[in-house]
This record gives sequence, C-alpha cells and structure tokens, in this order.
Amino acid sequence: MKTMQVKENLNLFRCPFCGGKMRMVGEKSIVCAKNHCFDLAKRGYVNLLTSPAKTDYDKEMLKSRSIIIRNGLFEPLTGKLAGLILDHAGGPHTNVTRILDAGCGEGSHLARVIQSMKGRNDRRVTGVGIDISKEGIQIASREYPSIAWCVADLAKVPFKDGSFDAILNILSPANYAEFKRLLTGDGILIKVVPGSKYLLELRELFYRSTGKEKYSNERIVAHFEENFNTAGTWDILYSIPVDKHNLEHLIRMTPLSWGAADERIKEVLRIGIPHITIDLAVILGINKSM
Ligand SMILES: C[S@@+](CC[C@H](N)C(=O)[O-])C[C@H]1O[C@@H](n2cnc3c(N)ncnc32)[C@H](O)[C@@H]1O
Repeated sequence: MKTMQVKENLNLFRCPFCGGKMRMVGEKSIVCAKNHCFDLAKRGYVNLLTSPAKTDYDKEMLKSRSIIIRNGLFEPLTGKLAGLILDHAGGPHTNVTRILDAGCGEGSHLARVIQSMKGRNDRRVTGVGIDISKEGIQIASREYPSIAWCVADLAKVPFKDGSFDAILNILSPANYAEFKRLLTGDGILIKVVPGSKYLLELRELFYRSTGKEKYSNERIVAHFEENFNTAGTWDILYSIPVDKHNLEHLIRMTPLSWGAADERIKEVLRIGIPHITIDLAVILGINKSM
C-alpha cells in the first residue's frame, strides 16, 4: 500500500472538521483527537471531504487533460511556474520548498513543475495537490506517487496555517481566505487565468452567434487584486499545431465544448483545425498583510 507521501507529510495536515492535529492509525487511516477518521486509499491518497461533492469535471475530461498536458501543450507555462517558484518562494530560513496545487485536477501540472525545478537549486521540494474531484486525484496518485494527493474542498483545505511557501491555482476556482491562511508569512500565490485568446479557435467554433464569442478575465483579475498584492503579471501567448488525436482530447478537456451538440463536435473533428492558441495570464501575488 502506498501511504508514504501522506504519512511523511502528516505534520502539515489538520482535520477538516475540527482543525485538530492528525496522526496515523496503523497504515491505513489518519485520525484527529476528536476521532474524525479518514481512510487512505490503496493508491495512497486520502479523501478529506466533509460532505460528498459533485463536480462537472468527469474522468474522461480529466484523462484528456492529462494527455494534452503530457503531450506538451502547456510546456511554456510549466517552465514559467517553476522559474517563479525558484525565484520567489521560500526564504533563506528553510531548505525545503512546500508547494500546494489548489484545484490540481489530474495532477500533471504540479508533477511537471516539480520535475522542471529539479537540479536548479539545492532545496528539497514537497508537493501536495488537492482537488474536489476524486477521479482527478485517483489519476494523479496513480501517475505521480511521489506527491501527496488529497480529495479536498478549497473552502476547507485540510492543512495547518502557514504550511506552504507557494500555492499554485491553475485555471481553477480560488478561495483567497484559505490561501492567505495556508501561506507562510512570505509565501507566494501564483494564479493562472485564461487570456482573451485562450483556445480561441475552439471558442469561435463552439460559441459562434451565442454572445459568448469574447472572453475577458478582468473580473477574476480584479478579485485577485482585492486579496493579494500583485508582484508581477506575465502573458504567455503562443500557437501550436494540432493533429487529429490531440484535437479530440483538446475538445474533451475544455468546458468550451460542454454546450456543443455531438454533430457539431463530429464536424469539427472531421474538418480539423491547424493550430490552437494558448493565451494565459500568470499572476504572482504576495499576501496583502505583508
Ligand atoms: C479546469 S480544471 C483545472 C484543473 C488543473 N488545474 C488543470 O489546469 O488541468 C478546474 C479544477 O478545479 C476543481 N475544483 C472546482 N471546485 C473546487 C473546489 N471547491 N475545491 C477543489 N477543487 C475544485 C475541479 O474539480 C477541476 O479539477
């Protein structure tokens, strides 16, 4: 049974019901002083939801995200995130950088960021990923066993105050009160949001004449700035060729296709698109109280 990552990082955990310290019971469960008990899955992740959760991100969608990320579609983003963590996270007081990916999906971004950081400084890296989707965490724990994975809600993150040097929040909802609580005093938040041209070719095909052809991230960025001081923003904009295999997964991985009729999707697959645009804003935030 793979329990290692949760066990090794148990000092970071707190009970999502009462906030109490957690300890291992045998090899299969973690429990707090008030006896709130959570079983570890065979693959080593732990489900710390306080009530069942529903998510629109199903297994097929997450598998497609995994294939697309592994095929390198987001590689320039990975490099940027790794560089920002190396440059800005964890002061001289520590020899370990603890990273939380909040809304990690199937885990590939966090795994690739950690891989990209390897050998670039002499600090150890501890990676923790949480997502409300059990299917996502199941894929993550199968593919990347050297990271601690938890099914958990952003509104009740099961970790102690000041546990992380960096939080990644990639194309996912945010809970800024929790992020502030979870970061160390000089910790950083890196949020990735779509730019107006993100997956533009699919948006044009699926949203034509719906009034949703144009997208703006203004509201999300403003909400970020209400909560964190922005230390920098970077636009990552590029276009890459798409073959038929990747197009199928690209369509499946994005909510842009959720409202589209099957016939429309088949037609797009038959015609194909030569390129896809990736347009992402990377925002680096530091705690407002700093
Ligand atoms: C578009 S996906 C992005 C996933 C991953 N960061 C990526 O870029 O591939 C959004 C993710 O946010 C997760 N999510 C939504 N609400 C959440 C919540 N309240 N707590 C934790 N995760 C949540 C979803 O399950 C989903 O995996």
